[in-house]
Amino acid sequence: MSDCGGVSRDDHTNPAVRRLADWDAAMLDDLAAAHGTPLYVTDLDRVKENCARLRDAFPDAEVRYAVKAHTGRAVLETVRDAGLPAECASAGEVHRALGAEFSGDEIQYTAVHPPAEDLDYVVDAWREHPDLTITVGAADTVERLRERGFDGRLCVRVNPGVGAGHHEKVRTGANAKFGVPYDRAADLVASASDEFDLVGIHAHAGSGISGDDLANHRELVRRMGDLAREVSAAGVELEFVDVGGGFGVPYGEDEPPLDLPAVAEATREAIGDIEATLAVEPGRYVVADAGVLLTRVNTVKETPETVVTGVDAGMTTLLRPAMYDAYHAIRNLSSEHRETVGTTIVGPICESSDVFCENRPLPRPERDDLLAVGNAGAYGYEMASTYNSRPRPAEVALSGANAALVRRRETLTDLTEVESR
Ligand SMILES: Cc1ncc(COP(=O)(O)O)c(C=O)c1O
Repeated sequence: MSDCGGVSRDDHTNPAVRRLADWDAAMLDDLAAAHGTPLYVTDLDRVKENCARLRDAFPDAEVRYAVKAHTGRAVLETVRDAGLPAECASAGEVHRALGAEFSGDEIQYTAVHPPAEDLDYVVDAWREHPDLTITVGAADTVERLRERGFDGRLCVRVNPGVGAGHHEKVRTGANAKFGVPYDRAADLVASASDEFDLVGIHAHAGSGISGDDLANHRELVRRMGDLAREVSAAGVELEFVDVGGGFGVPYGEDEPPLDLPAVAEATREAIGDIEATLAVEPGRYVVADAGVLLTRVNTVKETPETVVTGVDAGMTTLLRPAMYDAYHAIRNLSSEHRETVGTTIVGPICESSDVFCENRPLPRPERDDLLAVGNAGAYGYEMASTYNSRPRPAEVALSGANAALVRRRETLTDLTEVESR
């Protein structure tokens, strides 16, 4: 089996990673001046490049985009134009995918303990788009679909008993919440195939897989290959075997990128011979390095331990550091050449977890400096909230030489808009 932890080949036209240092500081400065901060900047050309690299690495597989990483309309349209179908985790994501004009056969809905309203919406959508596929992670959900008259394309999500990912909170593969237990999956597939158009089986190990975790990814793929052969021997003809997403991206400045072609080759080897198309559904890999978050310094406070630097983005703007202790590269665009000091960057939220980095060596900050936070394209805006009654930020999308405001900044009035008076 191939080693898939190495550094990827150097391709200057479509490099395996775009680092924060590669972004044009003057352009980002202009965008912050024009649109204010905090501001998400998403480069649609980089989204296209990431889609192209995925398709090149998996030429015989179907590469689907896990929409949850970034659901902005401009991103969805870019991904659709690049030929990737949409994997959706909720009725809201299906609604967005339909709005971005994905066709029914380009939409997979992966139901996770779905509320009744989600099933109602998706089954209604299926009546209009009968090629849409619904993935269920429990026999109970099959029953709930039957009650709604659904008898279309069904996929069974399996709990493969092996998880992977950058943090305990994103490892799904061995978590009982997700999927039908592995040893019950073949029976459910067989019984459901009598009533539904049983098209696939699915599993997802977790998110941000790289390095040592790749062995677990391969084990998951191997188990899915075995299961596919078992159900096919029982007479069920599968169209696809979806082994999930989770391909990691390098958040650290010196971290090597994933060797995607090697991961793809290892995936193909691990699945073995199956009479179905292999499918993968990355989210993060498509959008992470296509996005940066711009934020301005509000306060600089010298303390004996560190220079506490308050910025106008917080955990409500980018949750990953608070939620997963995630590392994001940070660059001071106003001056990269001042003396370096241990800097603790914090947001305006009244929570001690509202911290982007602790005592990191960075150019000495000054009030009004503009900072850029790297790899903010995946699970950035998506996980933003209005906690502490902070309106969500704006987003600009870049395409060629154009920069368009694709999400306006929310206002204080937006915060109370949904309340009855
Ligand atoms: C079922 C499923 N598929 C795909 C993904 C995408 O993972 P990633 O963004 O790490 O590629 C997720 C992420 O949570 C997921 O739950």
